[in-house]
Amino acid sequence: MPGITLGDTVPNLEVETTHKNFKLHDYFADSWTVLFSHPGDFTPVCTTELGAMGKYAHEFEQRGVKLLGLSCDDIQSHKDWIPDIEAFTPGSKVTYPIIADPNKEIIPQLNMVDPIENGPSRALHIVGPDCKIKLSFLYPSTTGRNMDEVLRALDSLLMAAKHKNKIATPVNWKPDEPVVISPAVSDEEAKKLFPQGFKTAELPSKKGYLRVADVS
Ligand code: BEZ
Repeated sequence: MPGITLGDTVPNLEVETTHKNFKLHDYFADSWTVLFSHPGDFTPVCTTELGAMGKYAHEFEQRGVKLLGLSCDDIQSHKDWIPDIEAFTPGSKVTYPIIADPNKEIIPQLNMVDPIENGPSRALHIVGPDCKIKLSFLYPSTTGRNMDEVLRALDSLLMAAKHKNKIATPVNWKPDEPVVISPAVSDEEAKKLFPQGFKTAELPSKKGYLRVADVS
């Protein structure tokens, strides 16, 4: 997937959305944002995905995280599509803005192109308050995303950021579960950072690199 990737600053494009026009950096300012693209309006998988985002919107709001959709059609088409999205997923309200990209000029600049289809993709970037990409997913048009996983990955990023990346989250981690201590942190530093203590897994190598701490 050539183009902007982890650690890169998202270009400060002026975008037209279902809410108003704005520059991306103004939208990203001071909070985390989930930016997610879709192949097109009035398509079945996208309709389910945008509905799920609408249903999960309160989860993102509780975390102070903004949502921003993108679909490769125009604003009128997006507005006409929203009633379908909300009708298909009961309890869903599309309260987040959706960017219009009818000429497919924005998706290459945001690295949201499906390289197999050479067209719009199911891409998703989680963007930090510094306007840099912290995580990216790229799914083919035939596979709808899992919003629980989006939320779980976001919670991992927020947890790591809260601990200045001195911790990481292990496989299948969920909030309230123990985290692991980064290999860059010495045992001496770990004792100061985690006064409540941490456990070092006893492994055949005896290298002591897998240290688990409860930070909840
Ligand atoms: C869909 O959203 O359902 C879809 C879009 C493009 C290709 C296949 C499925």
